[in-house]
Amino acid sequence: PQRLKVAPSLLSSDFADLAGELRRIEAGGADWVHLDVMDGHFVPNLTFGPPVVARIRERTRLPLDTHLMIENPERYIGDFVRAGSDLITVHAEACVHLHRVLTQVREAGVRVGVALNPHTPLSLIEHVIDLVDLVLLMTVNPGFGGQRFIPQVLPKIAAARRLLADRGLAGRVELEVDGGVAPDTAPACVAAGATVLVAGSAVFGQPDAGEAIAALRRASAG
Ligand code: DX5
Ligand code: ZN
Repeated sequence: PQRLKVAPSLLSSDFADLAGELRRIEAGGADWVHLDVMDGHFVPNLTFGPPVVARIRERTRLPLDTHLMIENPERYIGDFVRAGSDLITVHAEACVHLHRVLTQVREAGVRVGVALNPHTPLSLIEHVIDLVDLVLLMTVNPGFGGQRFIPQVLPKIAAARRLLADRGLAGRVELEVDGGVAPDTAPACVAAGATVLVAGSAVFGQPDAGEAIAALRRASAG
């Protein structure tokens, strides 16, 4: 992964006009669409599931980056693959048998990511990192858009970057940050080694989504 990717999170979009919001970010230069799936158990909020992802799939050609903030994700992998997800990320904290779930996603034929909450040590994924296409580091406590970036995660981003380099995975595995990412916080993430920026409110909270995406890239290039 070389060029910085921006993945707007639909969580902060107008759910009554998903087709319009997808057009807005596609025209605005988004690389992926980030889909936040919440079950009210793993996180204290509810969003949407496979039927909505399937309708989104019909309205965009952008890769669907599906972030599962749910317990027992293994029960739903097949449904999200059939709905059209290109990449499915599960939380390490939600998987007792993490190796098995990551293998299940890969064998279902899509790319696979593993996510960590802000307080979860990187060591939890040390022994599975060669199985994934993406590592997602949460920079807020998951559950809601518009929260404040937690800067204490920055050293973990740098440590993840070193771990990927040590394992010879740096060119193949994306390092994604999610939560409170905006033009003022993105540069430190990218400097620490992030290659994919998820941004909800920083994109959909702006009148011009394309300009908001460009602002994230500009800030991070500097
Ligand atoms: C938080 C979600 C994020 C969220 C980010 O639980 O995983 O993807 O949409 O929203 P912002 O960018 O507003 O922090
Ligand atoms: Zn997310």
